[in-house]
Amino acid sequence: MQNQEHSIASIKLNNGFTIPQLGLGTYRMTDRSLALKAFAFAIEKGYRHFDTASLYENEAIIGEAIRNSGINRAEFFITSKLWNDDQGYDRAKRAIYRSNEEIGLGYIDLYLIHWPVSKYRLESWRALEESLKEGICHSIGVSNYMANHLRELYENCTVFPAVNQIELHPFNYLSRSDTLELCSEKGVIPAAYCPLTRGQKLNDPKLLHLAAQYGKTPAQILIRWGIDHGFCEIPKSANPARIEENISVFDFELSEEDLATIDSWDKNLSVSWDPSKVD
Ligand SMILES: NC(=O)c1ccc[n+]([C@@H]2O[C@H](COP(=O)([O-])OP(=O)(O)OC[C@H]3O[C@@H](n4cnc5c(N)ncnc54)[C@H](OP(=O)(O)O)[C@@H]3O)[C@@H](O)[C@H]2O)c1
Repeated sequence: MQNQEHSIASIKLNNGFTIPQLGLGTYRMTDRSLALKAFAFAIEKGYRHFDTASLYENEAIIGEAIRNSGINRAEFFITSKLWNDDQGYDRAKRAIYRSNEEIGLGYIDLYLIHWPVSKYRLESWRALEESLKEGICHSIGVSNYMANHLRELYENCTVFPAVNQIELHPFNYLSRSDTLELCSEKGVIPAAYCPLTRGQKLNDPKLLHLAAQYGKTPAQILIRWGIDHGFCEIPKSANPARIEENISVFDFELSEEDLATIDSWDKNLSVSWDPSKVD
C-alpha cells in the first residue's frame, strides 16, 4: 500500500457494488504530463475514484496513472460516460468498447449516459444494460436526468440506474428536490458534479462565515455538505494543495442545524448545463 493519507467513506449502490463517496473530477485535465502528476498525487493522498468521460479526452491518462500507481486495480473506481454523438444502440455499444479500451483496466466500474438525448436515450440504455451482462461495466447509470427522464427510464428498462450524476450544491439543492426524491425512492445515488460551483460561490459571505466557524475552507464545507447528505462528490482540481484540501473532509461533520441552514441557500443556480428543459 502507498502513502494513503485520507480514507474515504463508501456508499453501497443498488446492485451491491460500492462507490467511494469522494472522487476526483477531471474535466479539462487533458495535458498528459500535468494530469499524470495530478492523478499520481491524488492517488498518494487517498483518492480512488476518478470521474472521466469520452468527452474529456483523458480516459487513457487516468488508466495510465492507475497502472503506474502499482496499486491493485480493484481498489479503484472509474466512472466514464457516453457522449451525445455516440447515442443510439449500435453507436453506444461501440463507444462502451472504445472507452474500456482507452482506460485499459479491464472493465469500467460505472458507465453513464452523459445527457438525456430525447431521441436516443432509451436505445442507448439497452446497450448499457448489455454491457453489464458482458462484464465490461460493473454498474450503469445516467447523468443530467431530471425526474421526467428517470420516470420514462423506469417504465422502459430492465436495470434501473445505480447513479444519477447531476449538478448539485447548496445553491440548487431545493430546486432539484423532485429529482432527488425520486432518486431516493428508487435507490439511485446522486453524484454531485460542480460541487464547488466552479468557484462561483466560494466567496459567498454566508459560506465564508460558516467555514470560519468550523475552521475549514469554503470548498471543504460545500463538499462536506454533500457527504452529509449521502451524495457522491466529485470536485475537480489540478492543483496539489487543493486536491489535498478537497479530500480533507472526513474529520468533521456539519450539525443538523447548519445542514438545514445551508440547504436554504438555494438560488436555482446552474453553473453548467441545465437539463430541466429537455423533454
Ligand atoms: N456529468 C456532467 O454533465 C458533468 C458536468 C460538469 C462536470 N462534471 C464532472 O464533475 C467534476 C466537477 O465539476 P467542475 O470541474 O465543473 O467544477 P467544480 O469541481 O465545482 O470546480 C472546479 C473549479 O474549482 C477550482 N477548485 C478546486 N478545488 C478548489 C478549492 N479547494 N478552492 C478553490 N477552488 C477550487 C478548480 O481549480 P483548480 O483545478 O485550479 O484547483 C476548478 O477551477 C468535473 O471535473 C467532471 O468530472 C460532470
